[in-house]
Amino acid sequence: MHILLGVSECYPLVKVGGLGDFAGSFAKHLARAGHTVSVVLPGYSTINRETYPCDDTGMRFSIPISDREVNARVSVHPMDDRFNIYLVENEHYFCRDHLFGTAERAYPDNAERFLFFSRALLELAEALETVDILHVNDWHAAMSLFYLNEYYRKLGRLQDVRSVLTIHNLGYQGMFWHHDMHLLNMGWDVFTPDKIEFYNHINYLKSGIVYADAITTVSPTYAMEIQTPSFGFGLDGVLRSRADRLTGILNGVDYGEWNPWRDKGLMARFSANSFEKRNANKLALQSELGLSVDADMPLITMVTRMTEQKGLDLVLPVMDMILDTGVQFAILGTGSAGQEDAFRAVEHRHQGQAVAWIGYDEGLARRFYGGGDLFLMPSRYEPCGLSQLYAMRYGNVPVVRNTGGLRDTVIDLDEGLDRATGFVFESESPYMLYETVRNAVTLFREDRGAFNRIAMNAMAQRFSWERTIKGYMACYNEIVGR
Ligand code: ADP
Ligand code: GLC
Repeated sequence: MHILLGVSECYPLVKVGGLGDFAGSFAKHLARAGHTVSVVLPGYSTINRETYPCDDTGMRFSIPISDREVNARVSVHPMDDRFNIYLVENEHYFCRDHLFGTAERAYPDNAERFLFFSRALLELAEALETVDILHVNDWHAAMSLFYLNEYYRKLGRLQDVRSVLTIHNLGYQGMFWHHDMHLLNMGWDVFTPDKIEFYNHINYLKSGIVYADAITTVSPTYAMEIQTPSFGFGLDGVLRSRADRLTGILNGVDYGEWNPWRDKGLMARFSANSFEKRNANKLALQSELGLSVDADMPLITMVTRMTEQKGLDLVLPVMDMILDTGVQFAILGTGSAGQEDAFRAVEHRHQGQAVAWIGYDEGLARRFYGGGDLFLMPSRYEPCGLSQLYAMRYGNVPVVRNTGGLRDTVIDLDEGLDRATGFVFESESPYMLYETVRNAVTLFREDRGAFNRIAMNAMAQRFSWERTIKGYMACYNEIVGR
């Protein structure tokens, strides 16, 4: 099959979170399974064109936006025999410091930027001629499914192309005022609740949900959760109405990229068979962070985007209580200014015991995974979560809330020491979080053998891409036959 993957980020060219990891390794493994994959990204100026040289394909499209025709140029970075990354280039839209804006303020013309991107996707799909599946991810590319149905198919174009929408995060929908309707170049007849309208707004993600031939999300539990009001962000009704087309397929991990035995960025490489070597990484991390270097001191770590989703507001109220138990704490993250400041204040109050490393640093993230004892991820919701999977592979024992992909991937100690891969707590309560962390720390202090057993169980888990690809192929095959 030829799959065109429309997405807003793709590792290694550009990544701000798990979506980038997903796209890069999904595409790579699809190609390995014998399929042709064309990933399509906006041609951000933040992509390093020296590291990732891009050739002009010569393809030019003229995209109608409002009453104008806007030019799209397409360049390509070949990754593999059957795997190309295409960039939709337009300086005005994509030569900017950020992908979507800052944490505080999205770019005011995001409706226009990603509409342009979504329409260019379809032109490219047509120009490539052999595309079987148009697979778009999240709101950034979702409007292409609206145009596919309401425009191209009606004109007899792209008739054989089938469409898939994958929802990686329902919390971001791409909602814009109806004042932006003029951008679309379509009649007001599509501005209805059964199409693209959502409480007087245009909702890009909803449009994808309404028009996709198949909808997937990134874990089975999240697929159930988003059909309920608590997790649906207002779209649970729309999702329920399409429940027969909705499946949850757990993400895979690229174990070629994430392997503590091969990771040259670690002080000491290790595997489950040489678990004792791991300790050198902890000591190195403590030293790097300016914490006292002490193998017996439990080190709690977090690597996270700082947004409401990640449950940082469950950590902050009990932060002092956690630190009073005599542990070390280090967080690597960036995002909302308020949360960044709150963790800086924690560091200030607990000099030498807590560290807030504000920023984005891929190498340091790996040293956190490889050096921490406990990896805290108390998300309010989590579609899949890759960080806890990386932490597990690196023997950093996860403490997670029982939601979404966290629920589907971490086995609580309650299930017995033979099976346990971490600590799981139920309710969105800071005190519950505190108790769970305290229990984990007590086990670390009082029975290191049992604690290490959990870490080694976690290391042995395999969330393979082969299984994930099988899930997507089943989904593709079903709609291609239709
Ligand atoms: P999400 O996509 O919701 O942020 P995931 O757990 O799926 O959550 O993926 C997060 C990815 O981003 C992981 O690869 C994680 O290591 C990385 N990451 C998050 N914050 C940082 C940071 N500050 N520095 C480096 N990597 C980070
Ligand atoms: C989103 C989700 C995260 C998921 C990632 C990749 O960023 O927040 O849970 O792992 O997408 O699917």
